[in-house]
Order: sequence, then C-alpha cells, then structure tokens
Amino acid sequence: MSDSSQALRQNFQQAGQGHVFDAWDSLAERARRRLVRQLEQVDLAQLAAMRAAITAVAGPVPRKLSPAPAFAMADESFPYLLHDAARAVVPVGDRALRRGEVAVILVAGGQGTRLGFDGPKGCYPILPLSGMTLFEVFARKLLRAGREYGRTPPLYVMVGNHNEQATRAFFEEHRCFGLNPADVKFFAQGELPALDDNGRLVMAGPDALWTAPDGHGGVIAAMHSKGMLADMRARGVRYASYVQVDNLQIPVVDAAFLGLHISEGAEVSLKVVRKTDPAEKVGIYCLDDGVPSIVEYTEFTPADSNLRGQDGRLAFWQGNMAVHVFGLEFLQRLADTSTQLPLHAARKKVNDAEAWKFERFVFDTIPLANRVVCMEVPREEQFLPLKNPDGPFGPEGVRAACQQYWKKALKLARPDLAEPPVIEVDPALCENARELATAIQGRKVDTSGPLRLEPQA
Ligand code: UTP
Repeated sequence: MSDSSQALRQNFQQAGQGHVFDAWDSLAERARRRLVRQLEQVDLAQLAAMRAAITAVAGPVPRKLSPAPAFAMADESFPYLLHDAARAVVPVGDRALRRGEVAVILVAGGQGTRLGFDGPKGCYPILPLSGMTLFEVFARKLLRAGREYGRTPPLYVMVGNHNEQATRAFFEEHRCFGLNPADVKFFAQGELPALDDNGRLVMAGPDALWTAPDGHGGVIAAMHSKGMLADMRARGVRYASYVQVDNLQIPVVDAAFLGLHISEGAEVSLKVVRKTDPAEKVGIYCLDDGVPSIVEYTEFTPADSNLRGQDGRLAFWQGNMAVHVFGLEFLQRLADTSTQLPLHAARKKVNDAEAWKFERFVFDTIPLANRVVCMEVPREEQFLPLKNPDGPFGPEGVRAACQQYWKKALKLARPDLAEPPVIEVDPALCENARELATAIQGRKVDTSGPLRLEPQA
C-alpha cells in the first residue's frame, strides 16, 4: 500500500469507517486505484452532519411557525389577469432580460426514481401530438424568450454523473434544439454517500462506495466548482432563474417575477401555489422563528396544518414549487464563504437494504438570504410536475391537465371555434392563456382534428 493510501486508510479507520478497506487485499491494482480515487472525494468531517441529520428525522426541533407574506400577482380565476402591481414591475424584469442580465438554471440531475423512465427525465416525450420531450420544451421556451426580449438567456443544465453523458448526447443529437451551443452549459452535481443503521458508510461493492446525487441543493457548490458562476459573471448575468426539468408549465423566465425580485431588492425569490387541502404533501413557505423558510409538511402539527385565518382560508397556504430567482451576488457569497446547505436524511432502499441517504435542498438558501420575496402563481398555469408513473403527476395526468388548460385558453382566445379533440401549443409560441389570443390573432385555425399551434414562419 502506498503512503498516501495508507494515510487515507488511517483517516477512515479513525473515523470508524475502516471497513471500506475490508476487501483491499483481494482487489486488483485498478480496482484499488478506483476505490482510493472515490474515497479521496469523501469529506469525513461531514459524517457528524450526516449523523445529526439522522437524529433530526427521529426528533425534529420544535418550530415557532407563523405565516409569511406573499405577493398575489394575478387574479385567482382563469385567465389569471395580472394585477396592476404586477404590471408595474414587468418593465423592470423586461429590462434585465433585454440587457442580457438573466440566465436560466435548469436542474436535471435527479434520478427520477418514481417515474421509472429509462433515461434522463428531460428526455421524456411529454407533449401529446409531437411527442416533444421536456428538454425540448424548455429549449423552445428559451427560443421564445429570445424572440421576445432580443436576447436568449444562457442555459445552465445541472446533470448528475449517472445521466451526464446521456443528456449531453441528447442535446448534441438534436443540435441543442436550435439554441446556440455556446449558450448551453452542462455541469455535474456532487454525490454523497449513505450510512447504514450502525453509522457505517454503505459500499456498492468491494471496490466502491455507494453514492447518489447530493440533491438539488448541490447546485450552488457545483455551479461554483465547475466554473458556472464565473461564466455567468463574465457574461454580465446578474440574476439566475432556477427551474426544475419536470415542471412542464413553468416559464423559464418571467418578467413579473424577475421585476418583483429586482425592485424589492431580494437575494432569493420564490414562487408558491395556494394549498387548499390541509393534507397536501408540500413544503410550506413560512416564518420559522421569524426567519423565512420552507418547512416540510411532516413538521407541521395537525393544528397548524389546519389553521385558518379570518378569511376562512388556510393560514399556512404557500406551497413551495421549487422555482426561484437568485441574485448572482448572493450565490457567489454562499460559494465564497463555503456555506454548506444543511443535509437532510431519508430512509431509502440502498443495495437491497434500507439505509440513510442524504441530500441538500435548494430551498435551504432561503433562510440565508438578507431579503426574500414570495410570489403566488396560479397552480394550473404554472405547476404541472412530472413525478410519478401514474396519477395526477404521472404522464397521463400531466397531459390531461395540460389539455384542459389549453382548451380553455383557446375557447377564450377564439370563442368562435369548436373544441379540437386534442390540442398542443408549441412552447415557442406562447406560455399561457393571456398570450394565446395575441399569438394566434387573425390566423385560420382548423379544430376539426388534432390541433397543433406553432409559431408561423
Ligand atoms: P425530485 O426531488 O422530484 O427528484 O427533483 P427526481 O430525481 O426528479 O425524482 P425522484 O424523487 O427520484 O422520483 C426535482 C427536480 O430536481 C432535480 C430533478 O432532476 C428535478 O428536476 N434534482 C433532484 C437534481 O437536479 N438533483 C438531485 O440530486 C435531485
């Protein structure tokens, strides 16, 4: 054993993790090198935080929760017309977009375990007529933004080690779906090991630790270490619009949301949807001992979950959608100060046995920000995530909800037309019902068969 491997072994032994070298003597030279390379990446100092995260699952700290303020930017009923306050900040967002100060972070590094699709989730064909994939949907939303603002925001796609190659190959095969390849960057997030019930690191085999992506909260460390924050700075980017690859209906950039973030001087902004069922399993934006935070539904007492205000509506209603605007300076500050987001532990199947898996969550940036702004958006317009093999968040459920929305939008835009059997609106055409009327103004539209609405050449 070389001196450096010997030192590594000692470090693991001292940390009570000597078992990771159990098979050393029987390993071939290549396998040994692979194991050492992997173990060198493990931050043993983090073991204490991992154990603390497990303890926190068993006995969460008591919270002092109170509702947090949110901006309601639009009417609550279809077609969700923007309020005056929202219209007033749109020019601010618009200006940032025109100046090229906005980038898009698309996180696509998850394992998509629940959906069970063979390949990156972004390669899932979701639109009903063209079979357009989620990645193309997002690319076409960007093309539309480019048309609208004269500048196409650069796209930063976070991938995981498990899907980086497939994702890059998919974009290459499709020539970045019409985006400029120089404006599409991929970066791989980090990984974290798992612990068994005895606090021992779980092995995937004799020569490998078991590891998994470190959660969407890994985005900040990965953006920093892979040079993406520097790339943004070099391009003059000041604001990052953060979206997740599975939310079909989310705008990649939203001038009202950006405008609100900028004019309120926020460091982090978030979008929420209104929770109406106290049992809905969604993290809630609220104040925890006065600090803006997302608190998991599991940490709410039944009394708090069911608490209603004077208006009869749920007091804790702000369902987290995982959609943000981040100030670049804020992200840089977190990176420069090596601020680690907390670890969250969950019991998961790891190698056919139950073990503790760890992740960081992007919403844990919220309590670290000097100013946070929250904006409520209409659920059916902007929240349609593909998570499961079936049910409302399965492919059929998502397609059905999308159909319902666009059929209503078409009826509003063109009351003269009969309802088509199927409708697909190209994301490069428009993003919501408010825009559809203008987008198809004066067009001859045939609704006697399946209808696909695209931009005209
Ligand atoms: P989810 O938490 O829903 O995870 O991610 P998932 O990987 O899509 O699906 P499950 O839980 O394994 O079934 C929400 C978004 O965050 C990204 C996902 O790609 C998705 O866009 N994500 C999640 C990452 O980029 N990295 C991660 O480590 C976890």
